[in-house]
Amino acid sequence: MKKFDRLQRFCLFLLAAALIVPTGCGESMPPQNTVSRKGMVVSVNDLATRVGVDILRQGGNAVDAAIGVGFALAVVYPEAGNLGGGGFMVIRFPDRPPTSIDFRETAPSAAHRDMYLTESGAVDPEKSLRGYLAAGVPGTVKGLELAHRLYGRMPWKRLVQPAVELAEQGFRLSEDQARSWRNMAGAFPSTFRVFGHAWDVFARNERFCQPDLAQTLIAIRDEGDSGFYTGRIAELIEADMKRNGGLVTVQDLAGYRAVERQPIIGSYRGYEVISMPPPSSGGIALIEMLNILEGYNLADLGPESPETVHRVVEAMRLAFADRALYLGDPDFVDIPVEKLTDKTYADELLSQIQLGVAGRSSMFSVSARGSFFHESHETTHYSIADSTGLTVAVTTTLNGVYGSLAVVDSAGFLLNNEMDDFTAKPGEPNLYGLIQGTANAIEPHKRMLSSMTPTIVVRDSQLVLAAGSPGGPTIINTVLQVLLHSIDFESTIDEAVSAPRFHHQWFPDVIDYESDRFDPLLLRQLEEWGYSLNPVTSLGKAHALAFDALNKTFRGAADPRGKGSARGY
Ligand code: DON
Repeated sequence: MKKFDRLQRFCLFLLAAALIVPTGCGESMPPQNTVSRKGMVVSVNDLATRVGVDILRQGGNAVDAAIGVGFALAVVYPEAGNLGGGGFMVIRFPDRPPTSIDFRETAPSAAHRDMYLTESGAVDPEKSLRGYLAAGVPGTVKGLELAHRLYGRMPWKRLVQPAVELAEQGFRLSEDQARSWRNMAGAFPSTFRVFGHAWDVFARNERFCQPDLAQTLIAIRDEGDSGFYTGRIAELIEADMKRNGGLVTVQDLAGYRAVERQPIIGSYRGYEVISMPPPSSGGIALIEMLNILEGYNLADLGPESPETVHRVVEAMRLAFADRALYLGDPDFVDIPVEKLTDKTYADELLSQIQLGVAGRSSMFSVSARGSFFHESHETTHYSIADSTGLTVAVTTTLNGVYGSLAVVDSAGFLLNNEMDDFTAKPGEPNLYGLIQGTANAIEPHKRMLSSMTPTIVVRDSQLVLAAGSPGGPTIINTVLQVLLHSIDFESTIDEAVSAPRFHHQWFPDVIDYESDRFDPLLLRQLEEWGYSLNPVTSLGKAHALAFDALNKTFRGAADPRGKGSARGY
């Protein structure tokens, strides 16, 4: 009996240890898989998730909550949450057609096609990635304002206020955050003034406050988007640009417009898939791949079989080749959207896939050098649903982790380095090893092509799931795999989000796969078919939710690859 007591105590200890996994600052891990009845918020940072849930509780709808989460992330998650960046929002209504909001950055009016080339014509990545010249005109504040004006319910001020409080009153940093913020802060003096003391604040167990950012947020709270795009903040941005060789002017800021766009809508085995149209490539590439894959019985082939991986990789290769050839800002280039998302076109593509043999990317034009960087980049996705089924999927970014690393002096926020998403030179890889075409060449006021793929799936007028991820081009394939797991392999949303992932992006012609998560026999078979394989630590960080129509419950799933949270009420 005594022995049994000890065993029981030991089991209880193990259970408690599992429940209270310590993070750097001794906090318990926030919930990553949650079931709820009235609504769900899934985001990368628990403080932001809680802001969203509070807004839902107070009677805000999912759009209101998305706005609150967006501003909160700009304070607590400067890696990718932002005022100085851009993004995309897909909205599904219970009672009218879906829509999307494009708040992608634009090239400043003084930008030109060859601005990142040296005199000898080579790409100078330093210029498109770091500092003021790398920044496009920010879109986030206009995007959130447009979403609110069209579809919000609660007063704007109440949605910005939680972020003001987080910036003014501060919050505790985890050890990882403190270290990372301090390390990146050395890039520019203005950045050091905001983030340079992060480690000391952590070591003293104090709250990290951001007074300049609080003032910027107060201007946005009280004056709406014009508090950011005109007046003091716009002048601070222009002054910093002038001092540091950037191009964004007060005229660029005043002229920036967020755009409501018709989403890309496709179907897959009877499900309706709603995703982001250009200037994101995400929706088109996702639908193109799903259309191709509809020609195979993946359910019978099984989730982690070489046959499935082979077919999915070939679909990825074809869709990414089309991405490079056709896609760019729809306001500047004609994109054959109908063709690319058409099922007959997918049949043509499918007929090019030779089963049992790896395809060759060099078959579709330009060859490429370079490899995909797997480090130091960050974007973030959040998914929100309210009790009416109104659902919002938002992916937002500064592009690289902390964007250009440049904080606008006295305004407290980081600028994006999104200009690197343009084609600096056709055929040359960008930060993500992506080869792009002239459709995505730099032009004044143009939006750079994106891979962000906020996506919502519906069936018989019922919400099925919402998902998205960071990861540059791997975003599209991460969302694809979350959908395949949910639809073909009938996984729950948390299983679909955690399942091992792989990635192919046409060039480089290699399959990235999450190491230690695939059967060695599968890998050997792929090599026998002629594939080059590249193990990587992890791919994507999906934040998704699903609706269980039978039990009328939401399930939220924050990717176990990250530290995000899923909370409902
Ligand atoms: O818009 C895009 O496709 C990229 N700027 C996204 C960058 C990204 O996802 C980096 N994150 N992990």
